Amino acid sequence: MKLLKSLALATLILAVAAPAASARKEKKKTYNHVTVEIPKVEKTVIPVETEHTQLVLMVQENGVLQTLHYGIRIADPQAFKDFRTLRSHDNGSGPMAYPTTGGRYIGEPALHVKYADGYHNTQLYYTGHDVRRNGNVVTTVVTLKDYVTLLEVKLVYDAYQKEDVICMHSEILNGSKQAVELQNYASGSLYLDADKFYLTHFHGGWADEMQMDGEVLTHDTKVIESRRGTQATQCNNPSFLVSLNTDRLQENTGEVVAGALAWSGNFRLSFEMDESNRLNILAGISPFASAYTLSAGQTFTTPDFIYTFSGRGAGQASRNLHAWARNYGVYGGGQVNPTLLNSWEGAYFTFTTETLLRMIDDAASMGLEMFVLDDGWFAKDYPRNNDDAGLGDWEVNTAKLPEGIDYVASYAHEKGLKFGIWIEPEMVNPKSNLAHAHPEWVVQSPGREMLQSRNQWVLDMSNPAVQDFVYGIFDNTMQLAPNIDYIKWDCNRIVSDFGSEYLGGDQDRFYVEYTQGIYNVMRRLRAKYPDTIVQCCSSGGGRVDYGALKYFNEIWTSDNTDALTRVYIQYATNLIYPACVMASHVSAVPNHQTGNVTPLKFRFDIACSGRLGMELQPKNLTEQERALADRCIKSYKQYRDLVFTGDVYRLASPYDGDYYALMYVSQDQSRAVVFTYCTKYQNRAIGGHPFRMDGLDPARKYKVTELNVNRSCWWGSGKTHAGDFLMNGGFNPLLLQTFASAVFYLEAE
Ligand code: GLA
Repeated sequence: MKLLKSLALATLILAVAAPAASARKEKKKTYNHVTVEIPKVEKTVIPVETEHTQLVLMVQENGVLQTLHYGIRIADPQAFKDFRTLRSHDNGSGPMAYPTTGGRYIGEPALHVKYADGYHNTQLYYTGHDVRRNGNVVTTVVTLKDYVTLLEVKLVYDAYQKEDVICMHSEILNGSKQAVELQNYASGSLYLDADKFYLTHFHGGWADEMQMDGEVLTHDTKVIESRRGTQATQCNNPSFLVSLNTDRLQENTGEVVAGALAWSGNFRLSFEMDESNRLNILAGISPFASAYTLSAGQTFTTPDFIYTFSGRGAGQASRNLHAWARNYGVYGGGQVNPTLLNSWEGAYFTFTTETLLRMIDDAASMGLEMFVLDDGWFAKDYPRNNDDAGLGDWEVNTAKLPEGIDYVASYAHEKGLKFGIWIEPEMVNPKSNLAHAHPEWVVQSPGREMLQSRNQWVLDMSNPAVQDFVYGIFDNTMQLAPNIDYIKWDCNRIVSDFGSEYLGGDQDRFYVEYTQGIYNVMRRLRAKYPDTIVQCCSSGGGRVDYGALKYFNEIWTSDNTDALTRVYIQYATNLIYPACVMASHVSAVPNHQTGNVTPLKFRFDIACSGRLGMELQPKNLTEQERALADRCIKSYKQYRDLVFTGDVYRLASPYDGDYYALMYVSQDQSRAVVFTYCTKYQNRAIGGHPFRMDGLDPARKYKVTELNVNRSCWWGSGKTHAGDFLMNGGFNPLLLQTFASAVFYLEAE
């Protein structure tokens, strides 16, 4: 047995020793009877570094660019220059930085191109690289080329130093004289080496988004893909965490790579563990029905693949992503957005001007800062009194609101509130003037039934005329009253039977150009309306991704407003997306989605861990409930900057037990807010539950105060405690009942 092993090893070593010589011999390549020269290159290490992490790219002698390391930053990355593995080339290529179909590569390709002559092979060789520094961001661009087909790929890595985040994308240039077809065109590839990989990802459905799922990866390929077109993230999300050498996700220990794709359309993440146990992660636009024709001289730019490495568990990975998101990834990230009352669950489609004015009165008297008029305010010929008519006809329904929007908005402004309004611009009801005027704008496939969902059709955003129209909806809505402060942009169905009259014979472009169409519109709108707060809603969390968040300030996390379900949705959302984007509303009980009855305090304490809002009819609250609401809203204002800008520390996962706890700590560690919740009745013998606070300065003393109660559930409330005491088990609030919850505010002395 031993002998066999050493024989096998000898063969492997021989196989490794061989390529250097054969690479030199293979220098000349013959293609269609043409011989091309592959220029000789020097072995070169290209480190892509942040303060604590490092991606080591390596140009091999044969010109192939490989990924040799992603993890903790090593002081001298040049040490990788002589790094060898015993991998036999007979079994395919090494870890190519951007694997392509062709040559020895037999795994999942980042890039798969079909050329005009019908051939599918692409072999990319290094031609040069360039490093630029712009403050906190170091950009490395590596250029690769196929000398036969003249296809060129630029790999662009933006390394965010302080945040320890790398964003990469590719730019694919067709340097040939004929069109080529991109069949796979991922944004990037990431190779990881470990004995075991535990993948955490997200699944769900309407009103049940972002449920955590996980598994130890086995050999072959795990794919997470959305083919929904619009609402791409309702059932899964273009994001993940991979924990190395473990079979579970750990909050504070272990190596974790977390990543996300900035794309709001069909996406594909693949995790391929090959026969050498190496994991290749690819993230990109889904190639489903989307082979992309690239004409001669044209470049396709893929969306960003954002990733981070943490040597201290999922917690640090989230903090890295959140910091990047606040500083770069989210429109208006890090800004504190107003609390609000949204009309939807309190009034649905049934309201008059009077209903809205009284809701505004109540919102103002409770200390909320904005009123948002949701669905139901528009369309005259086909009034929007339920969800089967009106979408597309964006004029005020004066039968319902005779005084117009201006009147309501001005009333809100007089009361000191901001004003927001709902639109769903990508959609049309068959019962609308728009559907009659522009049937060709509807996504459809000729001769087939135009399938409806929520009684509506999707408008073809790949068509520039539709983009102009959608731009106009937003723009005109903004003119309905001076100072509209907030737009809720909704998108309530998926694409089915896709087809675009505009694209004619090139339907493969539909899904990509639909998403690019939204981005085109948002870019134009942001140029004109830089300060408007825009919420990204898609039946709740159907469009939760960093592509959308470049333009939107926040997401409607879920249509599910039940505080208990929100525990799980918000916990998981927060693994990838920061609290500042997470809209969270207090609604009525029994909850309209689940029927659950939870205490008002529990509902507030959940909503206050994100961007607080209310979504109910305030006049239905009792006096006692109003008093509690006033108190919770007031105290939220005292600490909400921590929710929007602080670092999150998750203290207990509801997926692991009956408690959920998290805290946000200011960057200077002088203030913090701690949220604790219990989801199940606890045996009285258990007593106080010890949570370990985190992120505090161990040496500093903090005054801890439980908020919004007359008697605290923790013996230590109102007193001063050392950071190390709070972080090592001294904090044990009594949370014995189902839906018990407590919020604590910490201030350093
Ligand atoms: C979607 C949204 C809700 C609400 C309704 C209005 O379901 O997610 O918040 O705006 O549409 O029709």
